[in-house]
Amino acid sequence: KASACCLLPAPTAAAHATLQVTGVVGRAVSLGVDVPPGFQVREAIWRYLTPAEELVATYFRGSTETLYQSRFYGRSRLHGNLTLEICQVELGDSGSFSALLVNTRGQTERRLLHLAVYEVVSQLTLQVFTSESGRHDSARACEVFLTCVAASGTNVTYSWGRTDSEALSVDKHSLFKAGQVLWAKLDPSDGQVSYTCTAANAVSQNSATITPWDHCQREAGADDARYDYKNILLIVVPLSVLLLAMAVFG
Ligand SMILES: *[C@@H]1O[C@H](CO)[C@@H](O)[C@H](O)[C@H]1NC(C)=O
Ligand SMILES: *[C@@H]1O[C@H](CO)[C@@H](O)[C@H](O)[C@H]1NC(C)=O
Repeated sequence: KASACCLLPAPTAAAHATLQVTGVVGRAVSLGVDVPPGFQVREAIWRYLTPAEELVATYFRGSTETLYQSRFYGRSRLHGNLTLEICQVELGDSGSFSALLVNTRGQTERRLLHLAVYEVVSQLTLQVFTSESGRHDSARACEVFLTCVAASGTNVTYSWGRTDSEALSVDKHSLFKAGQVLWAKLDPSDGQVSYTCTAANAVSQNSATITPWDHCQREAGADDARYDYKNILLIVVPLSVLLLAMAVFG
C-alpha cells in the first residue's frame, strides 16, 4: 500500500472557463458541474465567492448537506449529480460560485460559475407627446416624443422600429434617455406609420406599438396637450435632456 503513494499521477491542471449561468428573479436556477469521465467523486464543496466566501453545500460519499450559514440557507438543494439548485433566486444572488470536486484518489477539479440574475421585463407603457411646433403645424409636419416604460425589469435595453420597416433616419429621429424616449418628426405621409418599442434583457423581451400621427391630429388645438408635453419632460426626461430638447426647438 505504501508504494501506491509514489504512483499517484500528476494532478490534472486542465483550465476550465467560467461557466455563465442566467437566473430569473423568483424562479429556480440549477448550477451544474461536468465531471470528467472516470473521475469518481468522493467529495464536493460548493462555495459562493462574492462578496465574501461562504460555504453553500457539500457532498461526501453520496450524502449531501446544505445547512450552512450562507445567503442560500433554506433555499438551496444539492442533487446527487452535484447540481446545486437555488430556489427563489434574488437579484442579490448574482455572483461567482466555485465547486471543488475531490475523487477517491484525492485528485481535485475546480469549476467556476458566474450567476447573473435578471428581473423579467414587464408590460410596456407607450405614450405620445406632441411638441408645440407640432401642434401649430400639424397639417404639414408633426414632432413627437414617444416614451417607452417597462414597469419592471433589470438591465433593460430599448430599441425602436417602424412598422413600414424603414430605418429611423437620423434627421427625423433622436433617442434620449438610453433609448427610452424617441423624438420623431412626422410628415403627413407617415400618417399610417406605427412605431414599435422593444424592451429586452437577457431573460425576456416585450414590445408595444403605437401610431403617433393619430395623436398629432387629436391634440392639434387641444388645450391640455401643451401641459402634458411639459409634464413628461419634467417627470420622465432628466433635466439635461430637457435642455437639449429646448435647444432642438429653439
Ligand atoms: C441533476 O439532477 C437533478 C435532479 O434529479 C436534475 O433535475 C438535473 O437535470 C440533473 N442535472 C444534470 C446535469 O444531470
Ligand atoms: C445589470 O445592472 C446592474 C446595475 O446597474 C449592474 O451592476 C450589472 O453589472 C448589470 N448586469 C449585466 C449583466 O449587465
